[in-house]
Amino acid sequence: MKYSRIVGLGHHVPETVISNQYLSNIMDTTDEWIIERTGIKQRRWIDPAKDTVANMSAKASRMALERAGLKEQDIDFIVFATITPDYFFPGSGVLLQRELGLDGRVGALDLRNACSGFIYALSVADQFIKTGMYKTILVVGAEIQSTALDITTRGRNTAVIFGDGAGAAVLQATEKPGILSTHLHSDGNFAEELYVKDPGSSRPHAERQPEQILDTSSFKVVMNGSQVFKHAVVRFTEVINEALEANNMTKDDISLLVPHQANLRISQFIQQKMGLSDDKVYNNIMHYGNTTAASIPIAMSEAWAEGKMKKDDIICLAAFGSGFTWASALIKWQ
Ligand code: UT7
Repeated sequence: MKYSRIVGLGHHVPETVISNQYLSNIMDTTDEWIIERTGIKQRRWIDPAKDTVANMSAKASRMALERAGLKEQDIDFIVFATITPDYFFPGSGVLLQRELGLDGRVGALDLRNACSGFIYALSVADQFIKTGMYKTILVVGAEIQSTALDITTRGRNTAVIFGDGAGAAVLQATEKPGILSTHLHSDGNFAEELYVKDPGSSRPHAERQPEQILDTSSFKVVMNGSQVFKHAVVRFTEVINEALEANNMTKDDISLLVPHQANLRISQFIQQKMGLSDDKVYNNIMHYGNTTAASIPIAMSEAWAEGKMKKDDIICLAAFGSGFTWASALIKWQ
């Protein structure tokens, strides 16, 4: 039986730091409100002249490959999680493949599972490795949210939360289980609680022609924040417990929980509900905001660099977001 394990992690965030103070100068908000409700102190926003989802993910991928002692040519397949691809189509997976200079033999799959995207991508890559189809897979989560945000008072409940960035993990086949399990869930009844309507195909022909679209607010993120929050705290805990039960473990077995960085208050709520000490939960939302599919690999890459993921540690990943989708992964670090 083959298993998969993470052999390298990397990340890249844009240079431009956007402080809460900056946001309070352009919309009706305050540093105090943002910190109290979200824990976010700053986020990174791209420079449109130089940053793209594809090139940020290439930088993150190269860091992950270098840390793994591998080269671009060692990659057999790419799984790319993003809801903010460079183009409406094709997906960003092929653009990353091009950036990395890989030849046509490498397939690239795009996933659109928002904040849960990285765990979904990890799960897909894990299955490909377990079946023996591929040996080395690049798993990426990358987003540019900033350029789509409504940065006026009207959009303040989302504008203050989201940030840009990219994270990557290299997965390789191994004899002993690294990824112990993944659990994936969805409930489309809540699709419109956190979504961007356009450019969607749900409109009739006349309304889908760009020159006919007079009201462009449908291109902005719509979020029912309190509804998302309420569901998140329940589903996060549920899916973490599901992972522990499936592996005959308890919360005491967790060495480090890396939750999707949605809101520091959500992470703290889960930590309290699970009864985990501060050193067992990794948060970096203070610095980067919520980077959707990129948040978990960025956090893992930083946690690894800080020496917080050691051999035989049990690492738990968990996420919740648009869809609604939610997911967990339990990993024995090798
Ligand atoms: O990655 C997964 C997706 N996202 C999430 O997980 C986000 C989950 N939700 C949240 O994090 C929180 O709901 C928010 C941080 C978005 C909002 O916090 P909240 O405590 O749920 O605020 P609210 O939406 O209930 O709004 C409370 C008040 C409202 O004013 P009124 O109607 O009470 O006068 C809002 O207009 O706060 C106001 N408000 C703001 N005030 C200052 C909303 N955003 C802001 C803001 N600055 N940025």
